[in-house]
Amino acid sequence: MIFTFAKNFFKVYKEFRKISVVVVTGCTDGIGKEYAKELAKTKMNIVLISRTQSKLEKVAAEISEEFGVKTEIVRADFSNGQSIYEDISKHLKDKEIGVLVNNVGVMLPRPMKFGEASEFDIWSHVNVNVAAVLAMTKLVLPGMVSRHRGAIINLASIAGTHPLPLMGIYGATKAFIDDFSQALEWEYRSSGITVQTVNPSYVSTNMTSFSDLVHKQNPAVPTAATFVSHAIATIGYTCRTSGYWIHGIAKHTVENYCPKWLFMFAMYMWNLLLLHNLKENKE
Ligand SMILES: NC(=O)c1ccc[n+]([C@@H]2O[C@H](COP(=O)([O-])OP(=O)(O)OC[C@H]3O[C@@H](n4cnc5c(N)ncnc54)[C@H](OP(=O)(O)O)[C@@H]3O)[C@@H](O)[C@H]2O)c1
Repeated sequence: MIFTFAKNFFKVYKEFRKISVVVVTGCTDGIGKEYAKELAKTKMNIVLISRTQSKLEKVAAEISEEFGVKTEIVRADFSNGQSIYEDISKHLKDKEIGVLVNNVGVMLPRPMKFGEASEFDIWSHVNVNVAAVLAMTKLVLPGMVSRHRGAIINLASIAGTHPLPLMGIYGATKAFIDDFSQALEWEYRSSGITVQTVNPSYVSTNMTSFSDLVHKQNPAVPTAATFVSHAIATIGYTCRTSGYWIHGIAKHTVENYCPKWLFMFAMYMWNLLLLHNLKENKE
């Protein structure tokens, strides 16, 4: 973990809560939904950007009712690439974006070799995991720079630490986010902008639902609510975190004591095990 100077982000933002807005991508489920809920506790209004209209409406109503904030929904499918950002930009125009959570992400439906991945999966990884982080950051950054305040939270993954056989595309896109996000943090730390990279291990969400081994809740596989309640407390204190203490131990071990070949061998075997334990095979 790299520590920036300690500042309680939420105390700083209390002052601006009436004018600042939070934007969360991929927010109708899992980690993104919990970020939206936790950030709504600050009383900042929330812009929810995701793919499914009915789920957006439901989450927006839940958040408004529970936290008494305004919510706005923007339906966008990030797998469509560049064409969606004109509309998103219209929704964000004239708003003071205080926090952007670049959360939206996709993963292969199960471990597989590259050749087995569909064209759709390949382009989705590029458009959703990589391009969306760049394009959304590009949209909100000029306003944050001119106001000299703002926070951008980028969801990478422990999967990006070393190459990840049988989940190679996913791991590579998360390594991209990890690298980009750290560079962005260096570039804009003196502009009053908090950039945080979050590298979780397994969290029990739809993304991990293909196997009980990585979906069944236990201390190492928290619910999205538990994970985010820990991760959110680190904003302003650290610019790179796994977000959750057990994941922190795993990440520290993998980064500092595990040679790349050992990680790759272990993850190849682990992904083979996950393949043999697919839920669909058991049903
Ligand atoms: N879960 C983990 O173990 C884990 C670990 C490390 C990092 N992460 C990262 O954390 C982030 C969130 O993961 P999660 O587990 O919470 O995922 P999730 O449960 O699968 O939720 C993904 C959210 O993104 C939305 N979404 C998916 N594809 C989209 C698209 N093409 N356009 C717009 N919205 C889309 C989904 O909307 P719909 O409801 O319409 O599908 C849903 O709201 C991802 O970046 C992931 O890589 C997750």
